[in-house]
Amino acid sequence: MSKREVLISESAIKTRVKEIAEQISEDYQGTTPILVGILKGSVFFMADLMRALTIPVQMDFMRAASYGSATKTSGTVRVTKDIELPIAGRPVILIEDIVDSGLTLNHIKQMLENRGAASLRICALIDKIERRECDVSVDYSGFQVKEGFLVGYGLDCNEEYRQLPEICVLKE
Ligand code: IMP
Ligand code: MG
Repeated sequence: MSKREVLISESAIKTRVKEIAEQISEDYQGTTPILVGILKGSVFFMADLMRALTIPVQMDFMRAASYGSATKTSGTVRVTKDIELPIAGRPVILIEDIVDSGLTLNHIKQMLENRGAASLRICALIDKIERRECDVSVDYSGFQVKEGFLVGYGLDCNEEYRQLPEICVLKE
């Protein structure tokens, strides 16, 4: 087990999730968007965000494996679990835990756009803006973080730490 330090507290996450939910509820008033969670990291964020929304929504999940090391994406993305709801003509919001290089999300975004989603926006709890390698913009972002490898609230390092209620930075 590596040492870790709390970066974003449980209460700070709660407050921010509520703010994002209010914004999405306002922007999507009168529609029923499909929230597509990218497994597995987005599950806690998705569950909390959904319950704070005041508009009707539907949910689905997708799983993308990207080859690479434990802490860096290689850019080769493979979809290992696809969504099941038809999205043609529907507003879709992709829910991600963290956008780092942006390669994973860019791939998924293009895929869903090709299936004719009426609109497609990205909502990510953490935006690691300085590590972006491709032009993918986050429409709703919880926190911008400059550096460090983060774990907790869904985020893992070799599948560990996902259940932490706060977001921590791993110290070697
Ligand atoms: P990207 O394709 O480089 O944007 O990588 C996105 C994916 O890499 C995320 O969905 C996470 O699964 C993982 N990832 C990137 N940075 C971190 C981190 O700091 N902690 C945990 N997982 C991360
Ligand atoms: Mg991961």
